[in-house]
Amino acid sequence: MDPIGRLRQSRIYSSGLVARREAIPTRPDRLEEKALRALGAEAQAYLGGGAGLETTMAANRTAFDRRKLIPRMGRDVRHRDLSVDILGRRLPLPLLLAPIGVLDMAHRDADLAAARAAAKAGVPFITSSQACSPLEDIATAMGDAPRWFQLYWSMHDQVAESFVKRAEQAGYEAIVLTLDTTQLGWRPRDLDLGYLPFLRGRGIANYLSDEAFVAVVDENTSSIKPGRPGLGALRSLAEMLTTRRRGVAKGRPIGDLAEAIRRFVAIYSRPPDLTFADLERLKSWTRLPILVKGILHPDDAKLALQHGASGIIVSNHGGRQVDGAIAALDALPGIVEAVEGHVPVLFDSGIRTGSDIVKALCLGASAVLLGRPYVWGLALDGQAGVAAVIDNLAAELDLTLAFCGHRSLSELGRHCLAEGL
Ligand SMILES: Cc1cc2nc3c(=O)[nH]c(=O)nc-3n(C[C@H](O)[C@H](O)[C@H](O)COP(=O)(O)O)c2cc1C
Repeated sequence: MDPIGRLRQSRIYSSGLVARREAIPTRPDRLEEKALRALGAEAQAYLGGGAGLETTMAANRTAFDRRKLIPRMGRDVRHRDLSVDILGRRLPLPLLLAPIGVLDMAHRDADLAAARAAAKAGVPFITSSQACSPLEDIATAMGDAPRWFQLYWSMHDQVAESFVKRAEQAGYEAIVLTLDTTQLGWRPRDLDLGYLPFLRGRGIANYLSDEAFVAVVDENTSSIKPGRPGLGALRSLAEMLTTRRRGVAKGRPIGDLAEAIRRFVAIYSRPPDLTFADLERLKSWTRLPILVKGILHPDDAKLALQHGASGIIVSNHGGRQVDGAIAALDALPGIVEAVEGHVPVLFDSGIRTGSDIVKALCLGASAVLLGRPYVWGLALDGQAGVAAVIDNLAAELDLTLAFCGHRSLSELGRHCLAEGL
């Protein structure tokens, strides 16, 4: 069988022969531009934006540019293997879909469409705490395909514990604890529009369908006062009704949606008091392996290991939390060194091409998480759009590996890179 790089090229060029162009641009910058053009101002801001002046977002990219691959010639690389072993499961690609909240900002089929595309490709989907469908529905949409659940540890332990137990029950294979976002970063694009999707009841399906959440009675829930009704208020109401329909469909309506949103707002972000010691409590709730996401310092990686983490995800949340932070790729080598191979080190923040994946693997990542690019595919063509983004990335990865003279990902290392150029 032809390797996947050539197969994908043939498919695209053959479609071109009958004057059919792909809906999904293969260049990541054109993909982003096209998707942003198709979205409204609020979705553009929420999905595309970052913290402050967005210098971290830019640094995430220049860190890739500063490292160059060194192609090797004259090797027999006809047969190539793109698979990797992560936490005891063989994956066809060194790729997972990153947890992204409020995917219905991109497409009405949101998580379900992205999860189905991931399942078909055998790529694990990481369901966000802020998904638009309950985690059980996403699991059902994926059949037996691998999936992980990302936890935002809200103010109430009961809710976090309930999420984790529901995930285990629904066949998720790992918990990703995101540590970098106990609260939202300072995001001017959203702030200047005054738009936060959660306040419209979007991206809170896991909470609406959660009995522990429903049971939480919080005295401090009166921070949101109803404004004067206008067009904006009517739109908000419409968005809330859409959410309500989703909650009702689950068969566990919690009645007054506005009240639910108020409760959510009161508990979803916590004072930044989560410590590595809390990992042990989390471990007592589940048998699933726990990975910590948002690690940028080698000492934090070591602490996570000491407290029982089964994996590290090096990430700066796509530059959405701290402006002027270290590029995730620059943080990767030091963390890989600190972890000494004890657990897998995964990577995200800035992955746009197959060549980027090769570079991250050369620096010691076991696999990468794809973030915004799959959201752009979703925005343009739903499930098919996400599938096309995955296929294009896999094809480019395959070709890059071949041109660099390697047959398997395990051959990659720093010797394949020229750094600091
Ligand atoms: C719109 C958006 C929403 C996100 N939501 C979550 C989330 O709910 N949980 C989480 O752990 N990370 C979330 N992230 C961070 C991603 O998991 C990932 O770290 C980031 O997208 C990587 O950066 P990149 O997309 O620029 O490559 C989100 C990122 C974006 C862009």
